[in-house]
Amino acid sequence: MRIDRWPRAALALALAFSGASAAAETPSAPGPAASADPAKIYQDRCDFCHGGGLAPVILGRALAADAVRTIARSGRGDMPAFAEKDLSEADLAALADWISKSKAPEAGAAK
Ligand code: HEC
Repeated sequence: MRIDRWPRAALALALAFSGASAAAETPSAPGPAASADPAKIYQDRCDFCHGGGLAPVILGRALAADAVRTIARSGRGDMPAFAEKDLSEADLAALADWISKSKAPEAGAAK
């Protein structure tokens, strides 16, 4: 499935929201985050677009982890790039691996 037109106002809102929540939740000192739970990172950083109909579903598609890492670092189309200060290498590696192996979200799952 390919959606060609994104609701830009909604994306902008989601983006603003992501910045706000990142500022609230990210500790100011970058530290090792090896214990971060990829499912929680996905919920916090990706799901409001990718689980909210603003962007393609990325769970359960066996997307290559390398591709997920590259897209998250460089952004694509209306998707923002995640810099290393926002998403550490360790967190991104764990997240990409988790997304690659994830199951499709259940149809009708509560939002
Ligand atoms: C502000 C909304 C937004 C956020 C937040 C976001 N994305 Fe995206 N993402 C998009 C959009 C829009 C696209 C489609 C880009 C295009 O192809 O034009 C996309 C595309 C992708 C793709 C390619 C999907 C495909 O079908 O090939 C991957 C992989 C991806 N995003 C991963 C992530 C990850 C990982 C995160 C969290 C760290 C994330 N995205 C956060 C909006 C977002």
